[in-house]
Amino acid sequence: MELAKKDLLGIKELSKEEIDLILDTAIPMKDVTTRDIKKVPTLRGKALATVFYENSTRTRTSFEIAGKYLSADVVNLNVPTSSVQKGESLRDTIKNIEMMGFDVVAFRHSMSGSAHYVAKNTDMKVINAGDGANEHPTQALLDLYSIREKKGSLENLKVTIVGDILHSRVARSNIYGLTKYGCEIRVVGPATLIPPEVERLGVKSYYSLSEAVRDVDVINILRIQKERQNVGLFPSLDEYSDLYMISPEHVKLAKDDVLILHPGPMNRGVEISSEVADGINSLIVEQVQNGVAIRMALLFLMLGGI
Ligand code: CP
Repeated sequence: MELAKKDLLGIKELSKEEIDLILDTAIPMKDVTTRDIKKVPTLRGKALATVFYENSTRTRTSFEIAGKYLSADVVNLNVPTSSVQKGESLRDTIKNIEMMGFDVVAFRHSMSGSAHYVAKNTDMKVINAGDGANEHPTQALLDLYSIREKKGSLENLKVTIVGDILHSRVARSNIYGLTKYGCEIRVVGPATLIPPEVERLGVKSYYSLSEAVRDVDVINILRIQKERQNVGLFPSLDEYSDLYMISPEHVKLAKDDVLILHPGPMNRGVEISSEVADGINSLIVEQVQNGVAIRMALLFLMLGGI
């Protein structure tokens, strides 16, 4: 079984059948991650490079361990101590990685479209690990997997995405994915963080958090990205949390079995209260576990494992 694509650059370009194939493949991969001996020979002889120009805990580390569980060789380019700091271009950096014999690169950069640029300039397979405000496809896949595992199906769910929609690659990738399953998607946040054109993606915009979460199956809470807030888009973090922090009162307005998701890292007390983050409806730590299985599935499908 193979994903018939050189690269995975976004959810937008995946069919529902391709998403189902990735989610189905992640089920046995998750089994591997929970065994005593977490190692299978599937990708022996294959090599993965992680090249991250932006910080990461979950995505980079889970790509690394996913590759290692599948017996691939994995190398992490440490960008802050690399020759990028001597002015080496992105194109040259990627060409050098390619010439060392890597088969696939997991790539993150602050510039939207950078993963597409890299994919056009290398024979390696490229997995977008987050490009600016464009897409974060592996995050959306692990979100879909986590929701499907609990709800049994993704069809026709009501999902609210809360917060900084404007800067969020997680929101965009989730919207592209969930609309393929007929979900009703609501986005909510301050008007300055909800681009008007988002409704063209098939979602409904809300400005009242209480209205937006009423009777929904899933609440996906976005991080307030302090590093992308250099023009004051809301008065202060205190005022943001007064209006848009998810607290237990908001959870009570949703369905009893509502799932609470957050891609991490969390700003506790800003976009999510600790009671919700650690509460019984929270899937946040399971999302991280599922992220390893999803990245194993992708590596397997893209590298044509045995
Ligand atoms: N969710 C996510 O992308 O987290 P990291 O930035 O830690 O990889």
